[in-house]
Amino acid sequence: MSYRHNLQLTADKKLRHFLTIQGLPRAVLCEILDTAETFSHVGQQAVKKVPILRGKTIVNLFFETSTRTRTTFELAAKRLSADVLNLNIAASATSKGESLLDTLRNLEAMQSDMFVVRHAQSGAAHFIAKHAPKHISVINAGDGQHAHPTQAMLDMFTIRRHFSDFYPLKVAIVGDVLHSRVARSEIHALTTLGVNEVRVIGPKTLIPTGIDSLGVHVFHNMEEGLQDVDVVIILRLQKERMTGAFLPSEQEYFHSYGLTSEKLNYAKPTAIVMHPGPINRGVEIDSSVADGSQSVILEQVTNGIAVRMAVMSMAMGQYTAAGGAV
Ligand code: CP
Repeated sequence: MSYRHNLQLTADKKLRHFLTIQGLPRAVLCEILDTAETFSHVGQQAVKKVPILRGKTIVNLFFETSTRTRTTFELAAKRLSADVLNLNIAASATSKGESLLDTLRNLEAMQSDMFVVRHAQSGAAHFIAKHAPKHISVINAGDGQHAHPTQAMLDMFTIRRHFSDFYPLKVAIVGDVLHSRVARSEIHALTTLGVNEVRVIGPKTLIPTGIDSLGVHVFHNMEEGLQDVDVVIILRLQKERMTGAFLPSEQEYFHSYGLTSEKLNYAKPTAIVMHPGPINRGVEIDSSVADGSQSVILEQVTNGIAVRMAVMSMAMGQYTAAGGAV
């Protein structure tokens, strides 16, 4: 994809919308990580605020449930000093039949500057970005099975914090890859950042056909797939997106693919364990691993604030890692 024709970038290759990792150059991903690094101290300050987005209005539009993404986007916007509007979808006029575009037109009429969108339909954030006026940026906070780009970038930030370089790393993504927007965005981010190897591990029913065309190696056995990996990313079974019988039972899934201390021993002793959340203990991960010394699951949540601050400030054209606030 030509960068000029990439809806996400301006003519001078700066972030305008953040909809998917696919098609973004490595330089943009590195700029997000470097900018997030400069924001990571804000949470430790007595006054957890910087004035970078003062006077901007950010609207959170969550048409699907969320705990981590919604709250960390809200905190990130507030730490950038923006005004934040959380539209309560259940109590909004969409329940009276108002179309998505009409809802957006009304929010635009309130001089909003950014929409942060989560939606159950793949492509919803692209659709909104295509119809948004020029001054509004759209950030995808997860759309159907398609993409969750800020989750992928906070995971890359967490990995970079633990390992100095992406190039030598072997990363395994385990579980329900078929229904996972996180897995898709992570595969694009990891391959763009140039890790040594990306593996996906899971039962045949939960690994999409042709996924090897994205540059990943497929395994159906934990002992083989976890051998010598540096990073293990565990995915939840996305039962809300399963329309048929993909598994004999959760107990059998846990027996074969649930991450226990015994299975984690196949990975390097220095390996970190990640999970985007929400976690289902005893289904895809054992509590001894989720709460164990190799788990960085709660670090991921903390890092999500700095990464979302970076993405929002860059999309508003207000910050670069090299140049600081503009
Ligand atoms: N990781 C993630 O997207 O979690 P939430 O659904 O709680 O936002």
